[in-house]
Amino acid sequence: MNYNSKYLFSNNAKPFIKWAGGKNQLLEQFNDFYPNELRNGVIKNYVEPFLGGGALFFALSQKFKIEKAYLSDLNKDLVLTYQIVQRKPEDLLDFLEQYQKEYDTTEQEKRNDLFLEIRKHFNCQRFEINYKKLSDNWISRAAQFIFLNKTCFNGLFRLNSKGEFNVPYGKYKTAKIFDEQNIMAASECLKNAEIVQADYTNCWNVVNENSFVYFDPPYRPISQTASFTTYTGFEFRDSEQLNLANFYRKLDREKGAKLMLSNSDPTNENPNDDFFQKAYLGFYIFKVLAGRAVNCNGEKRGKIKELLITNYQK
Ligand SMILES: C[S@@+](CC[C@H](N)C(=O)[O-])C[C@H]1O[C@@H](n2cnc3c(N)ncnc32)[C@H](O)[C@@H]1O
Repeated sequence: MNYNSKYLFSNNAKPFIKWAGGKNQLLEQFNDFYPNELRNGVIKNYVEPFLGGGALFFALSQKFKIEKAYLSDLNKDLVLTYQIVQRKPEDLLDFLEQYQKEYDTTEQEKRNDLFLEIRKHFNCQRFEINYKKLSDNWISRAAQFIFLNKTCFNGLFRLNSKGEFNVPYGKYKTAKIFDEQNIMAASECLKNAEIVQADYTNCWNVVNENSFVYFDPPYRPISQTASFTTYTGFEFRDSEQLNLANFYRKLDREKGAKLMLSNSDPTNENPNDDFFQKAYLGFYIFKVLAGRAVNCNGEKRGKIKELLITNYQK
């Protein structure tokens, strides 16, 4: 099918997957914190090394004149899926249409079986994929990734110790697996992006004084019970948070780039927790309100604070 003519002028792209920690709901508040050099067109180079759903990338690439974007994440299948959205959106849509049809025509009681079948296929196929070289089997894998993401419990991505995706079915009455127009618009936005599967430190070589770098690492858990840090099978512990803070400091010192970083605010739980104040001493630390609830405790329910750390003044 040829989707091009239909969506040529569409530019309202947003994340095409659900992702834990997605920034859609914070975009409006973030507006006040972008560097002036991005607003006035001096900065044309955008770097996002913890890409996830890419909410900020999609928003900024349609708002400002970004000429080059370097987008990366450690999650192999997430990156493969972005690369397919970028390069083969029409072929991907053909697969997604099939999955949507299959889901819609399967009776409610049998949808769990359909989900498990696709999950099993996704897990078995991982051994046949050469993640370094784009091939036809990437397209069906990207479609499966999106299908699983939209039908699994809460859009979570979790791997067991064998590297198998093991999130259960989300039991949704209806599931909109994809939006054609959005996939085409996302593909358009990604046209000039370099999309890489890599550790965040790999962005070092592409950052310069004309770059804006946005870091959205796995959050430091706000409580023992709220721990969610395994998007990739690797934990992101406090020692990793501190390594990242050192990397941020080094980028600031040696590259002169504009830097912005999000994380959870530990003072939501413990007013004396100064982990980030210490780690990012000398930088600007702001607080924004997120829509998430702290926990089920009625007293603490409501908006919680998240941190936004920049190396430039607001
Ligand atoms: C909080 S999510 C990003 C959310 C995203 N900004 C959004 O709006 O949806 C963190 C991401 O970091 C990735 N990640 C974890 N450890 C990483 C590492 N060492 N280097 C690069 N990416 C990593 C995870 O795979 C995950 O996609």
